[in-house]
Amino acid sequence: MGKNSFYVTTPIYYPSGKPHLGSAYSTIAADILARWNRLKGKEVFFLTGTDEHTKKVLKEAEKSGKEVKPYLEAITLVFKKSWEHLGIKYDRFIRTSDADHQALVQEILSQVYKKGDIYKGVYQGYYCYECEGYYTERDAPGFICPVHEKKLDLLKEESYFFRLSKYKQLLLAHYKKHPDFISPSYRKKEIINRLSEELKDLSISRNNSDWGIPLPFDKNHITYVWFDALSNYLTGVGMFEDKKLFGKFWPADVQIVGKDILWFHAVIWPAMLLSAGIALPQKIFAHGWLTLKNKKIGKSAGNAADLDELVKKFGADSIRYFLFKATPFGDDGEYAESTLLDRHNDLSNKLGNLVARVAGLAQKYGIAKTKNSLLEQLDIEDVAKLIDELAFDKALITIFAFIDLCNEHVQREKPWESKDRKVLYELVDSIKAIAILLSPFIPGTSQKIAEQFGFKLDFKEIKKPIAVKKISRGELLFSKIEG
Ligand code: MSP
Repeated sequence: MGKNSFYVTTPIYYPSGKPHLGSAYSTIAADILARWNRLKGKEVFFLTGTDEHTKKVLKEAEKSGKEVKPYLEAITLVFKKSWEHLGIKYDRFIRTSDADHQALVQEILSQVYKKGDIYKGVYQGYYCYECEGYYTERDAPGFICPVHEKKLDLLKEESYFFRLSKYKQLLLAHYKKHPDFISPSYRKKEIINRLSEELKDLSISRNNSDWGIPLPFDKNHITYVWFDALSNYLTGVGMFEDKKLFGKFWPADVQIVGKDILWFHAVIWPAMLLSAGIALPQKIFAHGWLTLKNKKIGKSAGNAADLDELVKKFGADSIRYFLFKATPFGDDGEYAESTLLDRHNDLSNKLGNLVARVAGLAQKYGIAKTKNSLLEQLDIEDVAKLIDELAFDKALITIFAFIDLCNEHVQREKPWESKDRKVLYELVDSIKAIAILLSPFIPGTSQKIAEQFGFKLDFKEIKKPIAVKKISRGELLFSKIEG
C-alpha cells in the first residue's frame, strides 16, 4: 500500500492578463490527477494560484487605471471564474501577496542565509521582462528572448546571490537516485546536459523596486521572483502555519510545469530545498506547449483561442478531453478549433451515442443481472497505471477503444430485436466503468451519467456489479455544434 495522501501543484500564473488556453493546460492536467487520486480514495491537496510580484503586474495595473491591489483582486477573480468554468476543483488558490506566504519566504530566506548560502555581489546580464529572467547568449542567441522574440535588456545591479553552484553534484546524485524526479525522461537529459556545463550562482534580489518581499537581512532588497514564487508550494500546505497539514502532504507527489520553467523547478527549486534542509518533491513533470500556428499560445493568441468563448461554445468537458486526447502529455501540441470540434464530435458520436442508445433500450425492456463478460475486455488496471504515469492520451485511447467495442456489441446483439435484458445489463454495467474511469477527464458528463444510471463515481465501484434498477432515457450529453 502506498501512502494515502496526494499533493499536486500547478505553476502559479502571472496575473498580468486573464488566463488563456495555455495556462488552462497545466491547471487541467493537475485537476485530472487530483480527481483521479480522489476517485481512488486518497486524501488530495491540489494547489494553484498567482505569482504577483512581477513588474508586468504593475504595468498592467497602471494601464487599467487601477491601484495594484484592486487590479489584483479583480484579475485573480477572473482566474478563479475561469477555473470554475473548466471544472477545476483546487484546494487552495494561493497568491504570493498572501500574508502567510510573505512570512514563509522570509523564513526560508533566513534559513538559507544562516546556512551561508546567500552573499552580496553585483549582477550584470541580459534580462527579459516578460519571462522575468536573465538569459545567457547560449540560450538567447543574438540576445533575443527565445520565448518572446524581443530584444533583451542589459541590466547591472547590486544583488544577493544564492550559492546554486554548490549544489551541482548533489543535484546530479539526486537525479541518479530518483530516476523519475524529472519526467518525462527526455527532458531530464536536457537538464543534465545544461547542468553539467558551468552552473553559476543565482541572483535572488534587487534593490531598485519595492514591489516584492523584502529580504529579512537587508530591507533595501526585495526577493527576485523565483525565490518568492517557488516557495509557494510550501506555503500552500502550511509549512509553518499548519504542521499537521504539512506533515500529511509534503513532499509533493507531482509538480506540473511547462517545459519553459523546468530549469527553475528541476535545478533551482531542489537546490533551495536542499539548502533549507527540506525534503524534495517526488516528481517534476514538464509538459510541452500548446501552439497556435506553431507558436506558443499566450495572451496574444486573443480571439483565436479565447478561453471563455471556447467554454461557452464547446463546454468544459470537450475542451478537457481534446487537450489530453490530441497530444501525448509532455509533447507540444498544435491547437486548431477544427480539431477541438472533431474531438467534441467523437465524444458525442461514441460516448453520447452509446449512453443514449443503451439508456433508451434499458428504459423500454429493463435489465437483468448477469456476469459482465463484456467488461473483461477492458484492462482496468492498465488504464489506472497509464493515468498514474500521466500517459493521459494512452489511457483515453484505451477507454475509447472499449467504448467502440460496446457500440459494436449493441450492433451485433441487436437488443431492440432480442429484447435481451442480460445483454443490456452488461452494457449498463460497462457504462458505469467507463464513466468512472473518464470522470477525472470529463467530470461534468460522468456525473450526469452516474445520476442517470444511479451509481457512485468511486473507483471501488468499477468492479461491483451494478444493482438492477429502472433506467430512464436522459438528456442529450453533448450538443451538436456546427463547424
Ligand atoms: N509565474 C511563473 C511560474 C512560477 S511557478 C513557481 C510563470 N508563469 S506563466 O504564467 O508565465 O506560466 C505558467 C505556466 O503556464 C507555465 O508552466 C507555462 O509553461 C504554462 N503555459 C503558458 N502558456 C502555455 C502554452 N501555450 N502551452 C502550455 N503551457 C503554457 O512562468
